[in-house]
Amino acid sequence: MFVPPQEVGEDGSILAKDINGNLIPASQILAKPPGTRALVAGLAGEPTYLTVTKDNKLHSWGIVDNCTHLGCTFPWNPNENQFQCPCHGSRYDHEGRVVRGPAPLPLQLAHVSVAGDYIRIAPWTDIDPRTGKKPWWV
Ligand code: FES
Repeated sequence: MFVPPQEVGEDGSILAKDINGNLIPASQILAKPPGTRALVAGLAGEPTYLTVTKDNKLHSWGIVDNCTHLGCTFPWNPNENQFQCPCHGSRYDHEGRVVRGPAPLPLQLAHVSVAGDYIRIAPWTDIDPRTGKKPWWV
């Protein structure tokens, strides 16, 4: 008998879904080439970028698609290896650090893990590995 995975984990994690609310199998994203940024519905439905790593896994952090300037969503530009916000021109590097303002803060992170073929996204409350400090969103 198929037992569906728990929708909400004890750690506050949720299962990644697509824009239509369907679960996204990890294998679907991992079929794409390394460096791919895949947008999924993450915590509280917030669009979140997942990254396919060089060794064909999902990076352990997701990047929330919410500009820290005024909250626009933004595309990934693979040619420049940046997230580029169309609203006022902010740019972030491949890990979500600000490269050019007016955005004042790095992009929010979320934990990403794979269980079976499901992707779990959990709140990130530990030290921000990019700054070595407590995250601004906690
Ligand atoms: S909302 Fe992104 S630069 Fe202003």
